[in-house]
Amino acid sequence: MRPPSGTSPASVVEVRLDQDSWQEHLAEATAAGLAATQPWIPPVWFYDEAGSVLFDRITELPEYYLTRAERAILAARSDEIAHLTSATTLAELGSGTSEKTRLLLDALDRCGTLRRVVPFDVSEAVLRQSVGSISEQYPHVSVNAVVGDFHEHLAPLPTDGPCLLAFLGSTIGNLTPSERQGFLGNVIEVLGPDDWFLLGTDLLKDRDRLTAAYDDARGVTAAFNLNALRVLNRELSADFDPTEWRHRAVFDEEHGRIEMHLVPNVDVNVRLRAIDLSRTFTAGEWIRTEISTKFSADAVADELADAGLDPVAAWTDDNGDFLLTLAQPRGTSAN
Ligand code: AVJ
Repeated sequence: MRPPSGTSPASVVEVRLDQDSWQEHLAEATAAGLAATQPWIPPVWFYDEAGSVLFDRITELPEYYLTRAERAILAARSDEIAHLTSATTLAELGSGTSEKTRLLLDALDRCGTLRRVVPFDVSEAVLRQSVGSISEQYPHVSVNAVVGDFHEHLAPLPTDGPCLLAFLGSTIGNLTPSERQGFLGNVIEVLGPDDWFLLGTDLLKDRDRLTAAYDDARGVTAAFNLNALRVLNRELSADFDPTEWRHRAVFDEEHGRIEMHLVPNVDVNVRLRAIDLSRTFTAGEWIRTEISTKFSADAVADELADAGLDPVAAWTDDNGDFLLTLAQPRGTSAN
């Protein structure tokens, strides 16, 4: 129901994760990762202000087809998705201001069902921005933002009526197989019988195109990767010298994933005062900063089905580069 004219529906930000405990969690994960035999850091260190600008530039690179391909699918299929789901709530994991989200919002709005948007993110600052721009563009829709970590704080989603939970951009590719299993387990738990899950995944393809997408000619991805060291210097009082490191992207055939690495050019000794950690990196060692899993369409359907989510429809772009899958909790299909 629309509120009386002259008033706007509520927009609220619910904090399920405070920024201090999130920083603490990241510090612990980073300490564990850097002490491991194969050192790694969480990819979340990419996304400070500078890193977010670099990521936006990545999405416009000729080599980085993912964003364009997913946008093309959404542009072609949003109305169909809106009609299939009749969702009154759109919940989106990750920031909710993107142009891609708007395609879904507009379609649900045209369908006449949209009442509520639930942007879900670990960053309160990012969410407050999303809330502002969504409320401005969709004044008749209430915005219930949730600050949380989707591994822990997904339930319950503030919904009324059928909810479409969207996880776009192939962000799920950043998770390991066991993390994906845990995550999809949380998704099925939070979804009611009338709810839907919309998942964007990058597809396996020619190795050269995959590596080019993560090692572009202009060096934007290299700058994005190396920026994580500056963030660690600032956030964990580390002393990385970014000029001593280089970017590398490799396709791991066995796991079907791109790995981004930071490789030292010389033997380096780094200290992270905030987590009381020192480590030497010698020739032949590297830090893994991100995994970006590439799927077959069958593998996506299988992983969803294993979690109790039945794929209802799946679409690719004209090139067959990217996959968008709409799924429903098992046993709740109207047929
Ligand atoms: C935002 C995680 C989907 O894995 O393709 C882009 C991040 N890393 N270039 C991806 C990324 C390097 C991106 N995701």
